[in-house]
Amino acid sequence: MRVGLLTGGGDCPGLNAVIRAVVRKGVREYGDEFVGFKDGWRGPLEGDAVELPVSAVEGILAQGGTILGSSRTNPLSEPDGARRIAANLTALGVDALIVMGGEDTLGVAEALHGQGVPLVGVPKTIDNDLAATDYTFGFDTAVAIATEALDRLRTTAESHHRAIVCEVMGRHAGWIALHAGIAGGADVTLIPELPFDLAKVIAAVEARFRRGQAALLCVSEGARPIAGTLTLQEGGEDAFGHVRLGGVAVWLAGRLEAATGHEARAVVLGHLQRGGTPTAYDRVLATRFGLAALDAVHTPAYGTMTALRGTEIHLTPLQEATRTLKTVPPTHHPTLPT
Ligand code: F6P
Repeated sequence: MRVGLLTGGGDCPGLNAVIRAVVRKGVREYGDEFVGFKDGWRGPLEGDAVELPVSAVEGILAQGGTILGSSRTNPLSEPDGARRIAANLTALGVDALIVMGGEDTLGVAEALHGQGVPLVGVPKTIDNDLAATDYTFGFDTAVAIATEALDRLRTTAESHHRAIVCEVMGRHAGWIALHAGIAGGADVTLIPELPFDLAKVIAAVEARFRRGQAALLCVSEGARPIAGTLTLQEGGEDAFGHVRLGGVAVWLAGRLEAATGHEARAVVLGHLQRGGTPTAYDRVLATRFGLAALDAVHTPAYGTMTALRGTEIHLTPLQEATRTLKTVPPTHHPTLPT
């Protein structure tokens, strides 16, 4: 078979491990050929592709980012996007696609599959907010980076008797903040699912200072105070209508400093959480997803996505992945220390 690969949406540590696993297994076990589409859905939309022999995937297992490039191009926002993609796949002799993406990229995959494009999905996002899979690769790496940052911020906060607010990614889901907050021993963790009471956050920080301790806060970029009491920096929308977030840490540090009289600082980790080499866990999960996706192409089991359930890899319908966002359930909500 001739199989096309693409990576869409925000990049994610482990994407190259998927690509490597697919190509190596496909060439050696199935005699497949591979085509890499550039920059997410832009590649098939514009017919921008490169051949992917085994030599092209050598040495990429530990490499962050994606050798194929990524974008948030939405081909369905173009009037003839689906037709152009189908025509380009035919022109390049591509029999099926393996699509690596989050909710937006896989949402497009689901729609195109409904229009007859043969494809299989692989879930990826550092946010870990895709329903139907227990974990996405990239999440473990992001949590490890955020945890290390919290460990480092703790020592400088203690030296200077300050509050430090560390802002982590997670637009609608607080998984990164929750896990890094636990692993890094944050004194306060704020997530988008649970609007926070500013007075209680201030009280928790004041209590730390009263005991002669510094305060370390781990805050999801999507965290908001109760009842819309603030407007944060929002930098336009992407092609899928997502607002660019940022600013909660700076805002909160200002409020804490004013209320407690102690110095407060904000640190925004941003794309540091997405760049660089994947953890061993993410390399293994990504490799397992890649191998399972290739088998699904050969079954064929089009319209499905690989998913981790417990310790096993399953195939699940694409619509299950995109129907709902996996947010942090109330049973997992962090509580403020008293
Ligand atoms: O969806 C993954 C994610 O990393 C979010 O956590 C974050 O809000 C967003 O992407 C940032 O996107 P961009 O790379 O466009 O700034």
